[in-house]
Formats: sequence, structure tokens, C-alpha cells
Amino acid sequence: MLCVVVPVLNEAGNIAPLVAKLHGVLRGIDWEVMFVDDDSRDGTRDAIAKVATGDPRVRMIHRIGRRGLSSAFIEGAQASFAPYVAAMDGDLQHDETVLPKMFAALRADECDIAIGSRYVKGGGIGEWDATRAGMSSLATRLAGIVLRTHVSDPMSGFFMLKRGVFDQAARKLSAMGFKILLDIIASLPAPPRIKELPYQFRTRVSGESKLDAGVLRDYILLIVDKLVGHIVPVRFILFAGVGAVGIAAHLIVLRTGLRFGGLSFAAAQTLATAVAILGNFSLNNTFTFRERRLKGPRFLLGLLTFSLISSVGAYMNVNISALLVGETHTTWYAAGVLGAVMSLVWNYAVSSAVTWRR
Ligand code: GDD
Ligand code: MN
Repeated sequence: MLCVVVPVLNEAGNIAPLVAKLHGVLRGIDWEVMFVDDDSRDGTRDAIAKVATGDPRVRMIHRIGRRGLSSAFIEGAQASFAPYVAAMDGDLQHDETVLPKMFAALRADECDIAIGSRYVKGGGIGEWDATRAGMSSLATRLAGIVLRTHVSDPMSGFFMLKRGVFDQAARKLSAMGFKILLDIIASLPAPPRIKELPYQFRTRVSGESKLDAGVLRDYILLIVDKLVGHIVPVRFILFAGVGAVGIAAHLIVLRTGLRFGGLSFAAAQTLATAVAILGNFSLNNTFTFRERRLKGPRFLLGLLTFSLISSVGAYMNVNISALLVGETHTTWYAAGVLGAVMSLVWNYAVSSAVTWRR
């Protein structure tokens, strides 16, 4: 049995043609298709319900308040018992005629994962503009850091694997963003045997792409999580990075205020602190906690709680480092760094539980 997992978000016009194509190419194979829909608003579920009537091969998971191609694939795979699982887009851009070849390669035990590749001979990226092609090739090179094996198209969202292979990776998956194949390969205890089969990435006819600025951020998070996620949570690293940017901004404003603004030290320091807090809050809101982003009145409320939490953090920082210097005669830089790290941990822990609570 083969389960083709198809994450969908607003793909109403593509459902019926896709299922018809699967029926065409998977003749002679026992298969099912598992649509994973993240609460589409364009009638996608109605379209699925329509083809599912009288066709037991068509199944669906409806997720509410959830997003993400990777987590959609994982849940789809876990909702099936099929010993072979494929991932495929629901917009007809992936060439379904490759599916039987992937299945044959896995059945013959030629590989653990069969990948539909745009970058082996015979494959191609269709009508992509130079920017998207360039981004894709850069991302592919970056992927090499965590892969441990050569894959010409690790960004592919079109592949098939044995359930046992998926299970071996399941508990280590980062499940962030778009790149589930990369996540699986990097999560396996040993590099898998891979076979890449060429295909031409087709042009989208109906609906539109869901790629946006968040995809790049999610991709970087995935790579960092695969590298150091078992030691520190990636979100904490982002939070600390934003903090470092805040310190730089603080110093720049302080110097500008003193030198060119003619402000007193207290006034310049107050201005710099305000800029740093507002800047840190906004950056954390758009990057660090992107999927819990606050908007409108909740943005202002969030800014308020964040400022309070950071003030407590700063107060503890000053007192603890002063105590260290005064009582235990710790050197100034060690005390300074310890105080800063303490307040960083405090700010992160409390603001993720209060300001950006789920
Ligand atoms: N359930 C769910 N949730 N499905 C989603 C989501 C989501 O948050 N975001 C996108 N999808 C679905 C789309 O409906 C479509 O079926 C599929 O995932 C791919 O989304 P597209 O927006 O069409 O992606 P693309 O064409 O830009 O990207 C493709 O190329 C990449 C390679 O560069 C995809 O095949 C990727 O998987 C692939 O990595
Ligand atoms: Mn697409």
C-alpha cells in the first residue's frame, strides 16, 4: 500500500484533476491519497469531499489554527498505515508519472528514499525567474551543511520513502517550515541510500504559490535547529541575536544623541533605551515569534508587557552583577557577562510565556 500525502492550502481547482491523474498512473498499485488541509477558505475541502464520495482511496485531515507544509506532511504520514509514503504538492507542479518509478525503486530495495529531482539530467525548474532560481541554488548549497550525503535536490517536496525510514526520523524532526525532505535526511541516525529521479517542475495553472518572506526565515531556523537544536532552542538563539542588535542600536542612538543632538547623558540614555526596547520588541515580533505575531491593540499590550519584563530583567542584571563584584570579588567583565546572560534568560523565558504566549 502506498499513501500519497498532499498538503493543500487553497487548491480547490487542483483537487479533482490531481486525483484523476493519480488514478491514471497508479494502476496496479494499492494506493490512497491523504490530503492535509490547513483550513482553506476557497472550497478546497468541498472539492475533496466531492471526489471522495464513492472513492475510498481519497482521505483528508482538516487542521484548524495550524500552518506549515512540513508538519502537514508529518501528520498525513502518521495518519496512515501504508508501508510506503510519498510527499507531493497539490498544485499539479509535480510530475505524477514519476510516482510509479519511485515505488518500483523502493520495492526493489534500490534505495531508502526516492527523490523527484529538478537538478539531475532530464530534470528542470520550468519557468522560474533568475531570482527564484538563484535562491534555490543558494539554499541547496546551505543544505549541504546538515545533509552528510550528496543530494542534488534536497529542497524537493516530491519524494517517496519506506515507513520504517520515516519512523526512524520521526522523533527528531524539527517540523519547521517547508523543507521536510531535508529535515528527514538530517534527522536519520545514518545517511540513507538515495535515488534521484528527474522531473520537470511544471508551471502552476490554478491557485497561487504560498512562498513568502517567512519561508526564508523558517529555512534558516531549520538549518540552525539541525545544527545546534539539541543543545539550545533555536528560538532562544534568535532572541539573543535580536538582543545583540538592540545593544548596537542603543549605543548608536546614545552616541548620536550626545554628539549631535546636544542631549544630556540622562536624556540620550533614556532615548536610546526606548529605541532599543521598541526595536527589540518589533524584531522579536516579526522574526523570533513570527507564528504568534501580535497585531493592532495586542501589539501595544505586548509592547507594554515586554517593556515591564525587560525592566525587571535589567534590574536583576544590575543587582546581581553588583553583588558578584561587591561580595565575591568577581572581575568586572565576568560579573557583567553573567548579569547580562541572566537577564537574557529571564527575558526570553518570561516574554515567551507572557507577551507571546500561545
Ligand atoms: N496544509 C498546508 N499548509 N499546505 C500548504 C501550506 C500550509 O501551510 N503551504 C503550502 N501548502 C501546499 C500548497 O497548497 C501546495 O499544495 C504545496 O503545499 C506547495 O506549495 P506552493 O506554495 O505551491 O510551493 P512552491 O511551488 O513555491 O514550492 C514547491 O517547490 C519547492 C522547491 O523549491 C514545493 O514543492 C515545495 O515542497 C518545494 O520544496
Ligand atoms: Mn507550487
